[in-house]
Amino acid sequence: MSVMIQNPEDFFRALIPERSDLLKSLEAEALEEGIPIIGPVVGELLHILVKVAGAKRVLELGTATGYSAIHMTRAMDPKTDQLITLELSQGLVQRARENFKKAGVQDLVTLLQGDCREILKEISGPFDLIFMDIDKQYYREVLPLCHKLLSQNGLLITDNTAFSDALDFDQAVYQDKGWRSVNLLCFLPQHSPEKDGICLAMKA
Ligand SMILES: C[S@@+](CC[C@H](N)C(=O)[O-])C[C@H]1O[C@@H](n2cnc3c(N)ncnc32)[C@H](O)[C@@H]1O
Repeated sequence: MSVMIQNPEDFFRALIPERSDLLKSLEAEALEEGIPIIGPVVGELLHILVKVAGAKRVLELGTATGYSAIHMTRAMDPKTDQLITLELSQGLVQRARENFKKAGVQDLVTLLQGDCREILKEISGPFDLIFMDIDKQYYREVLPLCHKLLSQNGLLITDNTAFSDALDFDQAVYQDKGWRSVNLLCFLPQHSPEKDGICLAMKA
């Protein structure tokens, strides 16, 4: 009879994907300063999803220091692809710009400063993939804007969906026939927090 792994959290905590020294230094910095980044496991998940989706235009809501964006750019072609990332805080925008230069992806990335609830009304789609990682209370409000900006069968990945602030988003994306979605409650080592939800929603 097959049994479950004993202490699965300890087991999976030891299986962290490899990543560059730059990404490791951004993780250390985020831990020290309390910046809630996605961490290496969700970073690898984003890389895989961008690659599998063959995403050539990617939009990110919530850049912080650029950690998640750098993960996604590693799955993209700098000659043909584009990643647009939106960040409210001027201070974080400056830090992210420096980190994109250090990663050598500054030509692939367009970083726009401002409130994404406004910017999303002005930018042009379609995008193949959108990663949403802003304050959870805005998720519900920007959901229709994400739908509009995605290509048919485009993928919306939303982080932190197990927070109570994301509850109205979780219900809306589940009920809306414009999306096919799954909401995964996961154990995510080094994610902030380590037990959280991630929603994968495809524009139907
Ligand atoms: C969880 S952090 C993003 C972490 C980043 N995605 C990573 O994993 O490396 C959320 C970021 O969203 C930004 N933010 C929150 N509300 C926003 C809004 N309305 N428009 C743009 N950015 C916003 C915050 O300033 C913060 O830097």
